[in-house]
Amino acid sequence: MKISIIGAGYVGLISGACFAKLGHDVVLIDIDADKLATIAKKEDLPIHEEGLQELLEEVHIDTSTDYGKTVDSDVIFVCVGTTADENGNIFSEHLINAANDIAGVLKKQQKYCVVAVKSTVGPGMTESLVIPLLEKSGRKAGKDFGICMSPEFLQEGRGIYHFMNPSRIIIGEYDGRSGDVLERLHQSLKAPVMRASLRTAEMIKLASNAFLATKISFINEIGNICKKLGIDTYEVARGMGLDERIGNKFLNAGIGFGGSCLPKDLRILISGARETGYQPELLREVSNLNENQALKPVELLKKHIKLQGATVGILGLAFKPGTDDIRDSRAIKVAEALLAEGAMVKVYDPLAVANFIKTCPQVLPASKEEVLDSDAVIILTEWEEFMELDYRGKIVIDGRRIEKAREARIYEGVCW
Ligand code: UGA
Repeated sequence: MKISIIGAGYVGLISGACFAKLGHDVVLIDIDADKLATIAKKEDLPIHEEGLQELLEEVHIDTSTDYGKTVDSDVIFVCVGTTADENGNIFSEHLINAANDIAGVLKKQQKYCVVAVKSTVGPGMTESLVIPLLEKSGRKAGKDFGICMSPEFLQEGRGIYHFMNPSRIIIGEYDGRSGDVLERLHQSLKAPVMRASLRTAEMIKLASNAFLATKISFINEIGNICKKLGIDTYEVARGMGLDERIGNKFLNAGIGFGGSCLPKDLRILISGARETGYQPELLREVSNLNENQALKPVELLKKHIKLQGATVGILGLAFKPGTDDIRDSRAIKVAEALLAEGAMVKVYDPLAVANFIKTCPQVLPASKEEVLDSDAVIILTEWEEFMELDYRGKIVIDGRRIEKAREARIYEGVCW
């Protein structure tokens, strides 16, 4: 099939490369010509993702800033980024622009084409926002063109694996014909397919991320209690996980969840619920707990040293290992809190330093050794290389359960 992908961000780029690998003709559209040039050259890619460079070298993808290149696509995926403010109000400018530009394409389109929204949107937005914009083309959804909501479940760092080995393929469809096209497109992937309404698909995405967030905040709350009682939270989680109804995944207690998805999707869901007049107390607490959890390392460190004038080293800035992504990383909150207390902050991360100092320029990039030489060290990302460092003689506050760090002179886990 001819597939057009609007938005060369994380989801768009990985989906494009993977669809090309599955044998489809792919064109990747973005407004950022510089970004597209790095993708076309396969050099200095805009994101760090395992296997992506190799995959791009193997497949062919066209890149363009010109929506005209998407004419006569079988499927146009909308993968532009959506962000949400603290209150969950979605910043949908990119989505609106993309829909308007696709409407221009639909006017010229000779054959039936399905527009599939992959961007995470609030409940009901595909119907209330995207379809009316597309219909400005004078073409009618469900008759002249198809429309689907096709949520993605890619985990950063393992995105290509998850694309090729999905847990499920959810197809939100406006009508059966639209859904048939998307089901055919995914047929070579071995995974259960579920077809649903557009709104149900949107909610499956938001509820899945909200559930993962809830699992993490739940185990962090248990962890906070266990720490007071002198019980090892990780042992508790191991015991709980043996019950297959609970499972052992996403029960790693620590400083909470960051990234571009879990915190944002939770806010979008909370805001969407409030618009209906319902107060989602549980989800609000999941989010509050997560925000407070990020500051635990600083509270704990204050028990051991005076922060004013101290040098504190941070090991790990990325929101999780395997990525250079610092969006909503707990390290931002920790660094800002340390700086506000008058500490000097040295930081090390194998991939994310350059991104981090754009957001938090007052910190000092340093080597691992220099960071370990600080008055105290806080571990915020569980990079494998941190499992081999020499922590002897140090003061370490561990936000991610690095066993080796227990050899420190003073060691505190955030919730164990
Ligand atoms: C998340 C979901 O896991 C994906 O299924 C989803 O497709 C994606 O969002 C998305 O909406 O696009 P991702 O943001 O890549 O994926 O990150 P996760 O692996 O879910 O980790 C999120 C955060 O939770 C990280 O900061 C991680 O350190 C933290 N976490 C995770 C914990 O604190 N404890 C755990 O047990 C697991």
